[in-house]
Amino acid sequence: MVRRPFSSRVPADLGVNRLTRALQQARAEGRRLIDLTLSNPTQAGFEYPSDMLAPLAHPRGLIYEPQPFGLIAARKAVAADYARRGITVPAERIALTASTSEAYSLLFKLLADAGDEVLVPRPSYPLFDHLSQLDGVAATPYDLEYHDGWTVDVAGVERAMTDRTRALLLVSPNNPTGSFVSRREFDRLSAMCADRDIAIIADEVFAEYQVRPGACVDAARTMDARDGLVCSLGGLSKSAGLPQVKLGWIALAGADDRIRPALERLELICDTYLSVSTPVQAAAAELLACAAGVRKQIQTRIAANYRALAECVESVPACTLLVTEGGWYAVLQVPTIGSEEDLVVSLVQSGVLVHPGFFFDFPRESYLVVSLLPPEAEFGDGVTTILRRIERSL
Ligand SMILES: Cc1ncc(COP(=O)(O)O)c(C=O)c1O
Repeated sequence: MVRRPFSSRVPADLGVNRLTRALQQARAEGRRLIDLTLSNPTQAGFEYPSDMLAPLAHPRGLIYEPQPFGLIAARKAVAADYARRGITVPAERIALTASTSEAYSLLFKLLADAGDEVLVPRPSYPLFDHLSQLDGVAATPYDLEYHDGWTVDVAGVERAMTDRTRALLLVSPNNPTGSFVSRREFDRLSAMCADRDIAIIADEVFAEYQVRPGACVDAARTMDARDGLVCSLGGLSKSAGLPQVKLGWIALAGADDRIRPALERLELICDTYLSVSTPVQAAAAELLACAAGVRKQIQTRIAANYRALAECVESVPACTLLVTEGGWYAVLQVPTIGSEEDLVVSLVQSGVLVHPGFFFDFPRESYLVVSLLPPEAEFGDGVTTILRRIERSL
């Protein structure tokens, strides 16, 4: 094991797992694979207007005016985008970032010392392990529970809180469970956090993606919080299907006497990096304005794929499609014949790449996580292959 000169923020073991090895081999042999892990919207067959990025070339971008939170015009554009969704956030409470991942890092620096803890949903997005580790904070899981729909184990969150807990991460809708945090859950959690001076980081990057109309009627309105400190995260990566453009944001809500000192300190952190490029800030209003077209295509695709998946799974009683309310992923519960790892490796051999539940820390086996982004025909072929493979093994 390599110990020096590297920090323990980066994993000591960089070895690849069996699924990656199987994938590398399939690609080396030139085998055709249907990728049901696809999370890159720019490679999913959506139509982007060819001049969508033209605003990035505007001469405004030639003038550098460093502002820790970003140009006020861009922050106002983000505030206007929240207003379009019926959410009020003053531009002065918005900080621009290069991505949501960077926003997490900035907030961990703001809120936590090395060794402090942040509470992270389980199952959830595997990047949290790296994001927390790279900032020297410990990620403590709290559970989401499934009973015909996902709920937050609120009592479990309370039990997981310690003197070193600095933030509670909520992901709504969550990746990969597709569950929105409900208003009731949020009210209880935010009261609990405000009492203990624990900040809430609400990752709402998928907020505009529901798999059927009305799925998010009961979703928490995090920016209505008037107690404690609530930081909502968003970005063009998901809302406009433009991960390569690198524009995200943090919006703050809560009690004024919590927001003010947080903004003062966050300003210092953002000023240290000044990571958001001027051309993207100058183009923010136009990019946000034309996001709707791509977003609509993604919304239509994920809803259609989820419906098709539900129909296919209905004819295979051994499998269950878990209820998804939003986001870009769906979860299939499948019979445990061997390990999840054996199953996903064998699926690569059958021509389909899919993620195993253990990547997302599902409490037990066997789950498969599929992306709802692939083009419908490809998605349908991939799902048919998975279900046939499972039926054959029963
Ligand atoms: C829940 C969640 N948050 C954040 C991100 C990353 O977003 P960004 O590209 O803005 O860093 C992802 C990416 O898949 C995600 O699933």
